[in-house]
Amino acid sequence: MDSEMLNRHYSLLPETYLFSRIAQKIAAYRERHPEREVIRLGIGDVTRPLVPAVIEAMHRAVDEMATADTFRGYGPEQGYDFLREAIAAGEYAARNIDISPEEIFVSDGSKCDVANIQELFSPDCRVAIPDPVYPVYLDSNVMAGRAGEPLADGRYSRVRYMACGADNGFQPEPPPPDTRLIYLCSPNNPTGTVLTRATLEKLVAYAQEIHAVILFDAAYADYIRDDALIHSIYEIPGAKKCAVEFHSFSKSAGFTGVRCAFTVIPREMETLRRMWLRRQTTKFNGVSYIVQRAAAAVYSPEGRRQTRAVIRSYMDNAATIRSGLQQCGHTVFGGEHAPYIWWQLPSGIKSFDFFDRLLDKCAVVGTPGSGFGPGGEGFFRLTAFGDPGRTREALRRIAAMTE
Ligand code: MLT
Repeated sequence: MDSEMLNRHYSLLPETYLFSRIAQKIAAYRERHPEREVIRLGIGDVTRPLVPAVIEAMHRAVDEMATADTFRGYGPEQGYDFLREAIAAGEYAARNIDISPEEIFVSDGSKCDVANIQELFSPDCRVAIPDPVYPVYLDSNVMAGRAGEPLADGRYSRVRYMACGADNGFQPEPPPPDTRLIYLCSPNNPTGTVLTRATLEKLVAYAQEIHAVILFDAAYADYIRDDALIHSIYEIPGAKKCAVEFHSFSKSAGFTGVRCAFTVIPREMETLRRMWLRRQTTKFNGVSYIVQRAAAAVYSPEGRRQTRAVIRSYMDNAATIRSGLQQCGHTVFGGEHAPYIWWQLPSGIKSFDFFDRLLDKCAVVGTPGSGFGPGGEGFFRLTAFGDPGRTREALRRIAAMTE
């Protein structure tokens, strides 16, 4: 095939997506050591089953699909009213935030939405991302030709990197004033830390001043243990004029394999809201009725109670990982309001080398910090989504290795 006809920006990407590269390494290790039980604390994938309220709703919806009277074909691309209303009430009205169902777009995942949203913006827009960062924000902009050329240090020439590390308490400074898109994620993937109200107030005021749009990924909001912390960017005055918010049922209700999420574009950003509606109605045929019924059940009293219990059990794992590493004398961040623990490696150790060492010596999988950008070098991410027994066993193996 003539290379001239291909999108040349794909050639600027790392060869494989971070988690595909890790999956390849695990597969190779398993082939070499079929006898060893590998404990996976790498990709943030849930392990607990769907809660009973969700399963019951799915079963009822399946039965509806079995008779002509209640069968459904194509649904509305932006989601059924019953789910958009449940989200508006359960997610927003419950926090005294006024978001209407028309501002909510149901989709099959936040990963797709955060990757696709950039196509509403001009290729010239300057983009700011935290460093380290969930790779999808960056890679989707590289694919669109907005990131410029790759540099020797792993960065891209046109991207603004907002440092988020221990030095600044994981609170990014506003990017230069010609920035048009600002990606934020809180609770954060990968660092497991949260943005403070003061940081968000500053960034929201700044975005309005420079006419930038904030793309706020709130996929882990349900892991926040302190009600005083910000769960939605719309708790910040002015955010409806400048921020799009992404939420997912993946981590809040175990839907990584079921697929359901939603994106909020407020009426205050009407042009963008209409563009997204136009995009979704053209390129997307909606989430299945069965899955949307399952998602709506998350907002029932039993659904809430049951999903919160699952989240608590994952957060118990987070506490196990944090305290286990701290007892071995390690410095860790995150894991208090998020299912990720950001482990500072002893100085001089490269995170991909550490990945290989941990896999080789302990048969434990984590995610190398540098996979999330140059600012992640020297760190290692562990997830709390594992099984409690295996998580404890992983910590026992790590303690034995680092003793
Ligand atoms: C992760 O491990 O970072 C997550 O699984 C990412 C995702 O939700 O796509």
